Amino acid sequence: MHVLITGASSGIGEAIAREYLKRNADITVVARRKDRLDELCAGAQSGTHVIAADLAPGRSTADPCAAVVAEAIAALGPIDVLINNAGMQIVDSLVNTNIADGERLIELNLMVPLRMSKAVLPGMMQRRHGAIVDIASMAGIMPTPQMSYYSASKGGLGAASEGLRGELRPHGIHVLTVYPGPVSSDMESAAREKFASSPATRYMPTGTPAELARLIADGVERKTDRIIYPRVYGLSRHLPNLGRWLTDRFTPSLK
Ligand SMILES: NC(=O)c1ccc[n+]([C@@H]2O[C@H](COP(=O)([O-])OP(=O)(O)OC[C@H]3O[C@@H](n4cnc5c(N)ncnc54)[C@H](OP(=O)(O)O)[C@@H]3O)[C@@H](O)[C@H]2O)c1
Repeated sequence: MHVLITGASSGIGEAIAREYLKRNADITVVARRKDRLDELCAGAQSGTHVIAADLAPGRSTADPCAAVVAEAIAALGPIDVLINNAGMQIVDSLVNTNIADGERLIELNLMVPLRMSKAVLPGMMQRRHGAIVDIASMAGIMPTPQMSYYSASKGGLGAASEGLRGELRPHGIHVLTVYPGPVSSDMESAAREKFASSPATRYMPTGTPAELARLIADGVERKTDRIIYPRVYGLSRHLPNLGRWLTDRFTPSLK
């Protein structure tokens, strides 16, 4: 099995890569920090391929997604599982956010997963086999104040991913949509630093990348439609108005 993971140099993506290495899968890992990808792959028992790439280099540079997929296939063969995980976050008011930064976030978090999926699909459709995993966010279900670009990107990715599932089922391809709530990582601690401390932030249930990675690899095997993690946040999918009211009223202000 060949699994391509974007954003594998830290946090959730790194944990997913480690989980697949434990399961003896071949992995292609993509991110900008090559040293961290090399370290992750050192001593692996299965096939590994490292691609150091900025997946959202801006409008003046050619989109790298198709080339990344072609390189992965040339190195380790057809891709069985694509994990669209690479992402960035901006925690700031819309009025203070630089437009270019916000639009770069939309490109990385929303357009890159669609481009990556489009690039793997011809091969998966031909073989009538494959899985695409989209790492969206609870912020797409319960949009968070001070995170307009991020919530928009994750709401968009979740919607595209849920729709793609029915579109690709007849082709033998499975789509798993993942909605993490807070999961310990560099991104999560940077966000926590930005908000004033409050009971909401102090007692928020927070998961671990390793446990989420296990759930994702199991979910791909069992063809699970979606994962909400930590599980307690699943309530907000069934009571979205309550979830939105809570984030609207109880998200603390910025420090
Ligand atoms: N942690 C949470 O609480 C949480 C909650 C909901 C959703 N998520 C989502 O989970 C995913 C992983 O986040 P994380 O928490 O693990 O954060 P993280 O530790 O900051 O990881 C982000 C990953 O994305 C890569 N990346 C960032 N910009 C890139 C670019 N331009 N080109 C290629 N790769 C790039 C980073 O690698 P380089 O810097 O080396 O390029 C890194 O490997 C993201 O999509 C995030 O939105 C996280």
